[in-house]
Amino acid sequence: MKIITSSALIIAIALLSAPISSETIADLQDDDADSNQENASTAPEPETPAAPQTTEEIAGGVCAGCHAADGNSIIPVNPSLAGQHAEYITKQLIEFQSVDGETPKRNSPVMTAMVAALTMENMQALGTYYAQQEAKPGIVSDDEDLLALGRILYHGGNIDSNVPACASCHGPTGSGIPPHYPGLAGQHAAYTLTQLGLFNTGERANDNGVMQQVLARMSAQEKRAVSEYISSLR
Ligand code: HEC
Ligand code: HEC
Repeated sequence: MKIITSSALIIAIALLSAPISSETIADLQDDDADSNQENASTAPEPETPAAPQTTEEIAGGVCAGCHAADGNSIIPVNPSLAGQHAEYITKQLIEFQSVDGETPKRNSPVMTAMVAALTMENMQALGTYYAQQEAKPGIVSDDEDLLALGRILYHGGNIDSNVPACASCHGPTGSGIPPHYPGLAGQHAAYTLTQLGLFNTGERANDNGVMQQVLARMSAQEKRAVSEYISSLR
């Protein structure tokens, strides 16, 4: 950018101090093209998970592509991590790791690859790092009826079908209760809905079956509604 701006300035100055031939301008523009190409060829290679790095380097290099450098993911299938409890994040990272080639306790091929090279110190430091980041508000559905149903379920559960209130474990504002109950507030609805599905089928069972019990009697509509409502919590 800098190079382009300064050559634009040179062209502007050159134009002011007329006379100048159109050839000279063409030359200057050629220079632009050359230096841009040079820039592209000297661009650093992307980071790989294997390199030993500081916490900021890991978060800003390896993880940022999906979770953003400050943990406020902008891609709805990738969870936001900003403001999440440190203990919960560290627990997830440990459980994504595959020990002796076994299926990890929390099975996600993407995340298992990402944590393969991390040490216990890395995982604890990453927990602290994301817990310290400020959570930014995400996108909220404008479907008022769905949000209203979600609100009822979140705070009161469904007495008829014995669905417990989410608030009883995740807190009335969705801030969670450390160390065992994660914060949910502001999380992408798409991510939350996926996790509810994974708990429901037992594919995610790193919660000792607590969430599976919660979900056993929830309808598809209720899962969708509560996921949308959670994204609106601040
Ligand atoms: C290629 C995209 C990608 C990259 C890169 C990536 N993640 Fe993830 N991450 C995901 C996805 C997708 C999930 C959800 C997995 C699932 O469905 O269970 C996830 C889940 C997580 C979770 C669980 C969050 C929760 O609320 O339970 C943590 C913690 C996490 N990632 C941390 C990291 C860290 C730390 C790094 C860098 C070392 C990283 N991720 C790199 C895609 C990515
Ligand atoms: C009895 C306590 C309890 C209740 C009630 C409960 N949860 Fe949970 N929930 C948990 C625990 C424990 C975990 C996570 C455990 C882990 O992975 O360490 C969890 C995890 C989750 C997660 C995963 C968070 C993430 O970042 O991946 C979501 C989403 C969730 N709960 C949604 C809900 C919703 C929605 C409700 C209400 C319908 C609810 N929970 C009710 C205990 C509860």
